[in-house]
Amino acid sequence: MAVRSIAGRTSMRSAAAADPAALKRLGEYALRYVKPGHTVGLGTGRAAAAFIRALIDSGIPVRGVPTSRHSERIAREGGIEVVGLEDAGRIDVTIDGADEVDPRLNLIKGRGGALVREKIVAAASRREIILVGFEKLVRRLGEHSILPVEVVPFAAPFCLRMMRRMGLKPALRRGQDGAQTVSDNGNLIVDCRIDPTLNARRVNCELLATPGVVDHGLFLGIAHTVLVAQPDGTIKTLTRPR
Ligand code: A5P
Repeated sequence: MAVRSIAGRTSMRSAAAADPAALKRLGEYALRYVKPGHTVGLGTGRAAAAFIRALIDSGIPVRGVPTSRHSERIAREGGIEVVGLEDAGRIDVTIDGADEVDPRLNLIKGRGGALVREKIVAAASRREIILVGFEKLVRRLGEHSILPVEVVPFAAPFCLRMMRRMGLKPALRRGQDGAQTVSDNGNLIVDCRIDPTLNARRVNCELLATPGVVDHGLFLGIAHTVLVAQPDGTIKTLTRPR
């Protein structure tokens, strides 16, 4: 089986490159949630990388818990002390990106293929802060139409069949060379085409009840705060409604 690791993946990113200046602003703005001595969850993707770089430049002494090999490399190269969950204890705050954010701050994540570790680190954190551009705000999850799901390779044919039955339109993620994308956990990523009329809670339950599915990109009730880069250069803070 030809495979390709996530580190080399490019084809599933959004066509429009994120504005580097907006990402930098977001990364620097998020530093206000970090205190010296904190243990910080380090998300994956462009916004999360912008935060990690801002954290390195700030010199604030923290320990980092990366959600991917890629983020780990950026952190280590910048001199951030990297720890795993066994040493981290409770994570004070995690800063990550997202692909879609709805008005209740439910998210779709995982275009970067790191959704499993991202959800684990989020669950181990006191606070989950998400950095996005305004174009990621949607009325209903599914408007950008891709839901990533991580599956055990052995189970992939079965999982694809079950996903079709659920009304999802699944396709194994492949790199530009056609090789299947492999996650940092050694699993495959399935990108499901969905539509905004889907019932996210039902899809959440059905996917998690499917043997072979490790996890999926619906992050429901997980984000506490979303920082949104606005077109005018300002940053808007959204807090999860109670
Ligand atoms: C990584 O698996 C993803 O969840 C990313 O956090 C998400 O795709 C957002 O990435 P960007 O900040 O690169 O848009």
